[in-house]
Amino acid sequence: MSEENKKKIYLESLIYPLFVKQGLSFDEPVESMPGVFRYSLAGLKDKLTQLNNLGIKNLLLFGIPQEKTWQGETAWQANNFLNWAISFIKAYYPGFKIFSDVCLCAYTQHGHCGIIPQGQSQLDREATLSALTEIAVSQAKAGADFVCPSAMARHQVKAIRQGLDRAGFREVKIMSYSVKFASNFYGPFRQIADSSPRFGDRKAYQLDYQCKEVALARIEQEIQEGAEIIMVKPGLAYLDIVYQAKEKFKAPLAVYNVSGEYALVKLGAKQGFWSEQELVYELIASFKRAGADYIITYHAADIAAWQIKYEQQESAIIQ
Ligand code: PBG
Repeated sequence: MSEENKKKIYLESLIYPLFVKQGLSFDEPVESMPGVFRYSLAGLKDKLTQLNNLGIKNLLLFGIPQEKTWQGETAWQANNFLNWAISFIKAYYPGFKIFSDVCLCAYTQHGHCGIIPQGQSQLDREATLSALTEIAVSQAKAGADFVCPSAMARHQVKAIRQGLDRAGFREVKIMSYSVKFASNFYGPFRQIADSSPRFGDRKAYQLDYQCKEVALARIEQEIQEGAEIIMVKPGLAYLDIVYQAKEKFKAPLAVYNVSGEYALVKLGAKQGFWSEQELVYELIASFKRAGADYIITYHAADIAAWQIKYEQQESAIIQ
């Protein structure tokens, strides 16, 4: 492959995660992930302008509430910060495509991804599905283009698709975290959202990393239930699943280059082990080679800046 092809990354294929936190006066940096912040209202506006200038096309938004409750009902309030941010972006930055995360773990005191009845320790599946549906509908009302269930609740796509259709949002699509492995790589993210489970772990609903048949079956099921884009998460340790999912189903496929993968790149760059830019290009190439159409990555803003530099050099050579 020529050097130009190697260096050209289409920004349409990148999705940049952004965290908005209610009640902040200043942006909070995330220590384990240099360059990643929890944005306040003012900070969010500046960041959007910067991302717009860089040519970023797709945003994946996560909300973090000021206070967590047992059931996490802030997650589906029409006027929570995430929904406010979605409508703000739609009104003032209509060029961005908005993907919004549909989950409860950042909103619940127990830190699990669904509804646990008071005094109990197990998730209630029906209650979880209706809460996820309410969250998705509230985000659709705010203007989300894609709602993205990440709770790994069985039949989450079916429930949300029906809820959206019933509420009149047929045009709103679903990108589902169809295959989310119970991974060690989520550590830094849980610091961002302060969403580590307070008891137990997520192994009851996230997939065991030994199981590839279950992973492929889950993808098939969610495509049938109406997922427009399916996702495999994390990325690096699961490229075999990405490859097989693409080969088998040919559906639009996203891979999530998660927080722990980002933190490793940053740590190694700081130690002088590698050039961050060179390593990121190598990783993006591996995701594409495996078959990903979309890459969700905290590196997206840096990649966009590198692309601009690269294009300037190119045009200088041509002139
Ligand atoms: C859970 C969720 C997780 C991530 C996004 N949404 C993982 C988890 O805590 O189980 C991880 C993203 C990352 O690590 O970058 N709703």
